[in-house]
Order: sequence, then structure tokens, then C-alpha cells
Amino acid sequence: MGTETQTTVLSPYAVLAREHRLIERALNVLGRICDEIRRTKKLDASAATQVIHFLRDFADGTHHLKEERVLFPAIDAKAFFPGCGLISEHELGRKRVRSMAEAVERSSRGDAEAAKVFMRYARSYINLLRAHIAKEDECLANVVAATFSGDERERLTQALEEMERREIGERAFERFAAIVEVLEARFGGGSSTDPNAEVSIQSRPETN
Ligand SMILES: [Fe+2]
Ligand SMILES: [Fe+2]
Repeated sequence: MGTETQTTVLSPYAVLAREHRLIERALNVLGRICDEIRRTKKLDASAATQVIHFLRDFADGTHHLKEERVLFPAIDAKAFFPGCGLISEHELGRKRVRSMAEAVERSSRGDAEAAKVFMRYARSYINLLRAHIAKEDECLANVVAATFSGDERERLTQALEEMERREIGERAFERFAAIVEVLEARFGGGSSTDPNAEVSIQSRPETN
């Protein structure tokens, strides 16, 4: 095993873990939007659209892409990568975000049921992504440390940064963190206070 002594290289997993913390903050906001729907029966379409923009372009279009196109193939090329269902969870997340966006559309057209539909898909997404992130934090950091040398980690970190610039431009983290901060100012920073927030969408009938 290589020594970790003189390693000052930024681990690619540190990049992803920092993004996980930002995504969790966005999930908290999403939970708060759902709390508001429960209280008021109304959907704040503008806030929901901002969260969907964050989830599509940052959580999926940047973060998940880094994992799927850079990190997972790199692990796979060097070691056994069990996958752990991570890619299919990304896929399911995309489906849930699409359903949330459709519900926002329907709500904007005056469909009174759409806010509730949005809430169900949003809750399901929150639960899915929290468990997904916990799974990655638990095992991927160790896999990255055990699989790659310091030089390889440095190259991987560079590949992640290059991909981000190509896909979404400069200073993506800062730009999307600013969006989350604005939403936190409106909804508060903590997680949902709804005791029913853990209800899985699988336990209820799908409506579309
Ligand atoms: Fe992931
Ligand atoms: Fe991740």
C-alpha cells in the first residue's frame, strides 16, 4: 500500500463530497417547499423552478455526470467496481425531477392537484438522494483512496474540473451555491419539519 504521508493532492472525492453538502442544502430547501405546500396547499412555482434548475444543471448535469463519466469508469478500469445501484439511482432521480417539473407546469396552468403531486415526487426524490449520497460518502471515499495513487488522484481531480468547465462553465459551484443561499433566505436552512416527510412514493399510487 502506498504511503499517505506527503500527499497534498486534492482528492477527487473531496470535490464530490463538497458538492454533496451543497446538494443536501438544496434538498433541505425542497423539503421546506413541501412543508409550505402542506400548510398552504399552494406551490411556490418560482422557488420550485429554481430548485429544479439546481437539481438538473448542478446535481445531475454536473455532479452525477462527474461520477458517471469520470470517477466510476476510472475505478472500473483499475479495480472491481460493484456499482451499488448508483447509476440506476441517478436515472430514477432524473425521472423524479421530470415529474416535479411537469407538476410545476400543471400547477401554473391552474391544476389544483398539482401541488400535492409535486410534493409527493419531491419527497420521494429527497429520500432517494439522501440515501444515495450517504451510500457514496460511506464507500466511495475509501475506494478512491485505496484505488488511486496521488498522481492519479490529481489527474482525476483535473478531469472533474475540466468536465465541469466544459459542461456548465466557470465557477459552477459558486454560482449554484448562490442560488441555494437565496432559497435558504426565503425558506430557512434546516430540513423539513413534516413528520410524514419520510413517506415513500412507492407506498402511494403513481398518478402519472
Ligand atoms: Fe451519485
Ligand atoms: Fe454523488
